[in-house]
Amino acid sequence: MSPIRSVILGCGGYLPETVLTNNDLAKIVDTSDEWIFARTGIRERHIAAEGELTSDLGTKAALQALEHAGVEARDIDLIILATSTPDNTFPASAVTIQANLGITHGAAFDLQAVCSGFVFALSTADNFLKSGQFRRALVIGAETFSRILDWEDRSTCVLFGDGAGAVVVDAQKLNGAGLDRGILMSELRSDGRHREKLYVDGGPSSTGTVGHLRMNGREVFRHAVTNISDVIEVTLAKSGYSADQIDWFVPHQANKRILDGTARKIGLDPEKVVITVEKHANTSAASIPLALNVALEDGRIQRGDLVLMEAMGGGFTWGAVLVRW
Ligand code: UT7
Repeated sequence: MSPIRSVILGCGGYLPETVLTNNDLAKIVDTSDEWIFARTGIRERHIAAEGELTSDLGTKAALQALEHAGVEARDIDLIILATSTPDNTFPASAVTIQANLGITHGAAFDLQAVCSGFVFALSTADNFLKSGQFRRALVIGAETFSRILDWEDRSTCVLFGDGAGAVVVDAQKLNGAGLDRGILMSELRSDGRHREKLYVDGGPSSTGTVGHLRMNGREVFRHAVTNISDVIEVTLAKSGYSADQIDWFVPHQANKRILDGTARKIGLDPEKVVITVEKHANTSAASIPLALNVALEDGRIQRGDLVLMEAMGGGFTWGAVLVRW
């Protein structure tokens, strides 16, 4: 029997209209464009308008992904929304997106793995498609981190932005040869001992409030390059590929220094790294699909290319996905 591969048919992205630059931030907290850019590579970020919800951002990205894929909403039977900033505690914002798209069949749910959310969601969709339980999935990363930032804490509020990205993933029977399209391999990891290094200090079961993001940036940084490089090396070893065969590296966009360090450690040409952190900042689960969308729109990623995605975030959670586009 032919194996099923999860093939990415299309991608979309959405960024809210309002742009907040580093210079704008320097009017709110004691910081500067020089400090933020030198430490992170960020120049600006997008901020959702009042009343603009995570599900609104996700719906716009999903509509663009459907159009790019040439797929009708009614042909989707699975929606996985990766988010840590849902519209409400429940229901899942995925069902709001499902309703916005006019879909009344199949299943829709949220998945929470913070900045690793898109990698976890893509891997989850891949397993559902390969098992035959669903046929065509929308995998979305959408976030409004501006709503959980402490705008008086310069060590965190300068790092994040809002946005959404989405892909349409199709279950296809392929012949299983090495050059077949689709998701070739995914690896996921968590280690809850580190949960207090990057967390939100509120929640329905603890404080009854939404809370604010808190981070020990230096500690997160210290683990990031090692964890990410390890999971990439396992992904490549299991799939039989080497770093020099990767056409495009599309990492989670937290900090340019982490991206440069990871590329160096795994021996990747810096020209192959897709970087959007300068204009998007860290959009958590949305950052990878937003970066994919940029690299598809400007023609860098082409059909047949080998694309490696990776992320690390609160938990800690981390993981990698290798895709033949
Ligand atoms: O997506 C989830 C994963 N998150 C991440 O990957 C974030 C990982 N961490 C980082 O990217 C970096 O640790 C940061 C960018 C957050 C911070 O960079 P750093 O080089 O680790 O700086 P630091 O925290 O060690 O702070 C250095 C100095 C401190 O001042 P003193 O104590 O040396 O006088 C901070 O108070 O910089 C100060 N500082 C700032 N100064 C100007 C912290 N934030 C700011 C700021 N503007 N916004």
